[in-house]
Amino acid sequence: MKQIFAFDTKTLTYVLGTDDDGRLFHLYWGKKIKHSDFSVDELNDANSNHSDLDGACQEYTVFGGKMYRNCAFKCTYFDGCRDALYTYKSHIESENELVITLQDKAYGTELVLHFVHYSDSDVITRYVEFCNNSADDVKVDKFMSCEVNLPGLEPYYIQNTNGSWGGEFQVKTEKLLAGYLVFDSRKGTSGHTNQPVFAAHHGATEKNGTVYYGALGYSGSFKVEAQCDFENRTRIMLGINDFDFSYTVKSGEKLVSPKVYLGCADGFAQMSNDMSKFAVAHILPQSFADKPLPVLYNSWEATGFDVNTENQLSLAKKAAEIGCELFVMDDGWFGERNDDRAGLGDWFVNAEKFPDGIDELIDGVNALGMDFGLWFEPEMVQRDSDLFRAHPDWIYHYPKRANSEMRHQLVLNLTKPEVEEYAFSAMDEMLKNHNIRYIKWDMNRPFSEIGAENLENGQELWLRHTEAVYRIADRLKEKYPYLQLEACSSGGGRADLGAMEHFDMVWTSDNTDPVDRLAIQYGFSQFYPVKCMRAWVTDWNSDKRPVPMDYRFNSSMQGSLSVGANLDRLSAEDLQKCKDNIAFYKKIRPLVQFGNLYRLKTADKNGYYATEYANGDGAILFVCGVGTALFAQRLHDVTLCGLDENAQYIYTLGGRKYTKSGAYLMNKGIVIDDWNPLSSVIVEFEKV
Ligand code: DGJ
Repeated sequence: MKQIFAFDTKTLTYVLGTDDDGRLFHLYWGKKIKHSDFSVDELNDANSNHSDLDGACQEYTVFGGKMYRNCAFKCTYFDGCRDALYTYKSHIESENELVITLQDKAYGTELVLHFVHYSDSDVITRYVEFCNNSADDVKVDKFMSCEVNLPGLEPYYIQNTNGSWGGEFQVKTEKLLAGYLVFDSRKGTSGHTNQPVFAAHHGATEKNGTVYYGALGYSGSFKVEAQCDFENRTRIMLGINDFDFSYTVKSGEKLVSPKVYLGCADGFAQMSNDMSKFAVAHILPQSFADKPLPVLYNSWEATGFDVNTENQLSLAKKAAEIGCELFVMDDGWFGERNDDRAGLGDWFVNAEKFPDGIDELIDGVNALGMDFGLWFEPEMVQRDSDLFRAHPDWIYHYPKRANSEMRHQLVLNLTKPEVEEYAFSAMDEMLKNHNIRYIKWDMNRPFSEIGAENLENGQELWLRHTEAVYRIADRLKEKYPYLQLEACSSGGGRADLGAMEHFDMVWTSDNTDPVDRLAIQYGFSQFYPVKCMRAWVTDWNSDKRPVPMDYRFNSSMQGSLSVGANLDRLSAEDLQKCKDNIAFYKKIRPLVQFGNLYRLKTADKNGYYATEYANGDGAILFVCGVGTALFAQRLHDVTLCGLDENAQYIYTLGGRKYTKSGAYLMNKGIVIDDWNPLSSVIVEFEKV
């Protein structure tokens, strides 16, 4: 029977429909329109080479029958049948969710498609459940979280990233004229290279042009597949990477896909702001989602592995003086961890470095008025550790293969319940016995030799490992509601919306060069809230490219400001600059962490970045030159966004005070008169 299903979001309408055979088709996603105008057209094979389904817009394509292009779902039934056929069984519509159940009538198994929608947002949450209601096991071979049918026959530009360690979130855009475009990770984490996201458009800009976008909430190996078919229709799928993945769903059990967040916006600024607001309201752990994040100090770049009570307290004293609110001791505090060759897995305090225990340091930090945080790398072990000597079988491995090491590390098999429990209890013990209110959870190498002898179907490890990470994080947060969690993976190797559902923030990149960082932050801010983006002020590269202290702050203040410089080596003048900048950041923090973001100007080779954050009360503008040539552009014209055009704004520029209307600032704009390629300017606009 033909049926139409539709729902509205803040400004959009989404429509689906079934044909007489119960096949589910995608009909519309765009500006709000009447639902009753829609109907499902009959499909016929075009000829003996092009089947009816080749060009059809199905809502969730399964592999089976006359289907020759990419599918969102593929499975193997108990009898060896690899042909799936899912048609309408039932649906439930509630105020903010549409649930459509499709069934393979021959086997009884179901695909349950969820569409969660909100009247105050254009972001839709989608996920799928595979319910094995049959009497036998079913092996799921591919299980994407969603399929997106983009409207029209005009080829799309597809945006993703091509990054690396130290250069995460480098935005790349390609026009998809034919065939497939795949962005993925096969590493076990979402990784530094591609992102589990897409933005598709016909030449949109920051300010306008329709952008369809999506971001997957998953931190493991993922896949984003875009295809332009022979009729020039573009479809995009996001989900768990099907490379080396399958999952045996036992009779009576179900498999739930990661969630995907989809939206449609007018321009990239709206895309980022809609996603960011949505993430704060619906994705981030709610305990800290709407709270400004503290200014933290992290010891890694100052003391490396060489941490002890004395040098940490010395740094902590200065960190408190300049206004930091949290002191995080990074790697090096545990086991025999004197360099990167030993110790991972032995999560007990190193008695040589902390002869009287760690509380002397924690109490000292607390007495200075700061909270204390600690670094862990719970998914790893090293050959030279008590843990490995006791449990050599706790790593992923194959009996006849030597394990590859990276940074002298081996990956723990978190799919074993006892290993998951160990990772949890290692952190739990420290939290139970000490006043630790923050954990930085690191993960410094991809998986290899991925044997998991405990699993009947070894290909489940990719998903099971990621789920174990999330479970541990959730358990810690539940037991210690005051605990803030930071996800890190050699910088931004696990910076995705899956991590952000369980961790309060992420480490963005190990590259803390303030100039390089602007491009990294630009890419990060496309899909993720800048609030979650930890940004340290450090001494990184200062020998190769000395950058003024104010510039370093201006770069880092565009996210969650943090400090990682060796404060013991800074001059009194620089320490004062740190203090002044941190005090200023605390004033503008709500604006940066919760305001609307406008990327007004993205640098070319000798240009500058201009980034604005605005809310109802005003705006803050950061302008950072990035050029190296001395003929760098002298005058920068900047027109603002997101102001009230009828309101007046006061600001100071070049030592002069101005009062101008929002309309003037957004149309005529201001001129920043700047000569030095590595100089930076901040302008505060206060609404009168
Ligand atoms: C990689 C992280 O990204 C760094 O911030 C630091 O925590 C090191 N690991 C420590 O080994």
